[in-house]
Amino acid sequence: MGVTEKDGAGLAAEYDHFASEFVDDPFALWAAMREQEPVARSEKYGGYYLVTRYADIDEAARDTERFSSTDGAGIPPLPMVGMIPIDVDPPDQRKYRKVMDPALTIGPVMQREAEIRALVRRVVAPLAERATWDAAQDLAVHIPPSATLSFLGFPEEDHELMTKATDDVTRLRGQDTPRIAEAGMEMVGTCVKLVQARRAAPPKDDLLQLLLDGEIDGRPLKDEEIVQYLSVLLFGAVDTTTSAIAGSVWYLATHPEAQAELRALDEIPNTAIDELLRWVSPLQGLGRTVTKDTELGGCPLHQGDRVLLMWASGNRDDDVFECPDEVRFDRKPNRHLAFGMGPHRCAGVHLGKLMLRATLEELLRTVPPFELGEGELLWLGGEARGLRGVPIRRAS
Ligand code: HEM
Repeated sequence: MGVTEKDGAGLAAEYDHFASEFVDDPFALWAAMREQEPVARSEKYGGYYLVTRYADIDEAARDTERFSSTDGAGIPPLPMVGMIPIDVDPPDQRKYRKVMDPALTIGPVMQREAEIRALVRRVVAPLAERATWDAAQDLAVHIPPSATLSFLGFPEEDHELMTKATDDVTRLRGQDTPRIAEAGMEMVGTCVKLVQARRAAPPKDDLLQLLLDGEIDGRPLKDEEIVQYLSVLLFGAVDTTTSAIAGSVWYLATHPEAQAELRALDEIPNTAIDELLRWVSPLQGLGRTVTKDTELGGCPLHQGDRVLLMWASGNRDDDVFECPDEVRFDRKPNRHLAFGMGPHRCAGVHLGKLMLRATLEELLRTVPPFELGEGELLWLGGEARGLRGVPIRRAS
C-alpha cells in the first residue's frame, strides 16, 4: 500500500476498511497516518475519519459526551443498530452492563474452563496426525461458536445458522447485497424465538437466564432489549476470538523461537496472551459519532461526523509501545486497545482470553512443532480484521 498523498488529498481519501488493499497489510499506511495525519478523512461510506494515534483513540473512547455510540459502531451501519450495551451511551450503558457483567466475571467464566478445554482437545487431536492443516478452517473457526453460543443460551441446532448470519453481517457490509438485511433478520428472528421459548421454560444456568431475570430502573428487561443484548454478544464473541486464535497461531508458525518458548512452559502467562491480542487486534476499529463541533488530534470535527477509532493502529503506536511490531511475551505494562477502552471496554475479556489460552496450550501440547505451509493467507476485513486461511505444515 502506497503511503504518499495524492493530488493534495489526504492519506485516507480512498481508504476502505473492507477492501483487501487496505486489509491485507495496513501497517505502513497506519504508521504514516499516525505521523502525518492522525485523524484522516476517507470519502467512502458517506465520509468518515480514521483516528490512528493511541492518545486520540483513548481520548475519544473515554469521552462519550463528545463521541457517542448511539448511531452504532459500524461504518456503514449494521442492519440492527440499537444493540445493548454497545449502542447506548452512559449513564444508561452502565446500567445495562450491570445486568450482564456478573455472568462474564472471572469466576463464572473459569467454571467453564474444563468444558472449553474438552472442546478444544476434540478439535486439536486430529491435527496431531496431519502433515498439513489450516489454522483458521481446521482450528479457529470450530472453537468460539461452540464455546460461546451455548453459554449465551443458544441450543446446538441454532449454532451454524447464527454463526453464518453473524459472519455475513460482519463481512458483507462493504457490498451492495440483500443478503446483509436477510442475515440480520435471521439473527433477530432466531433470538426472538429463543427468548419467547425460554420465557416459557424452566430456568437454566446461562447468560440468557441472567437477562431474562434482569431488571433496569426497577423494571424487568423487555424481550426486545434481551434480543439487542444477544445480537451484540454474537457479534462480540465469535468472530473476534476466531481471529485472535488464527492470528496467534500464524504468529507462532512464523516465529519458531517464540513457539519453542511457549512449548517449554506448562501454562502460557497472561502477559503473553495480552501481547498476542495487542499484536493481532481482531477488531481493527469501531465507530462513534461526533455530538458537537470539536477537535481531535489537531483535526476539526463537526457534529454528525463519523469517526473510526482504529484500535489496531493505536496498538502499534511507538509513543506508547516500545518496538510495537515485535511480540514480547513479557511486555509490561501493556495497556493495549484490543478490547477497546473507556466505558464500552469489552465485557467478554475473560472468556475471550480463556478461549485463546486454552486453544494455544492444548495445541502446543498435542501437535508437534509447525510452520507456515504452502498457499495464501486469507484476510477478511471490516471493523473486524482477521485471518480465515492460514496454511500450516509440520516443521521440517
Ligand atoms: C479476543 C476476543 C475479543 C475481542 C478482541 C473483543 C474486542 C472488543 C472491543 C474492542 C470492544 C469495544 C467496543 C466499543 O468500544 O465500541 C468490545 C466490546 C464488547 N465485547 Fe468484546 N471482544 C472479544 C471477545 C468478546 C467475548 C467472548 C464476548 C462475550 C462473551 C464479548 C462481548 C462484548 C460486549 C458485550 C461488548 C460491548 C460492551 C459495551 O458496549 O459496554 N467480547 N469487545
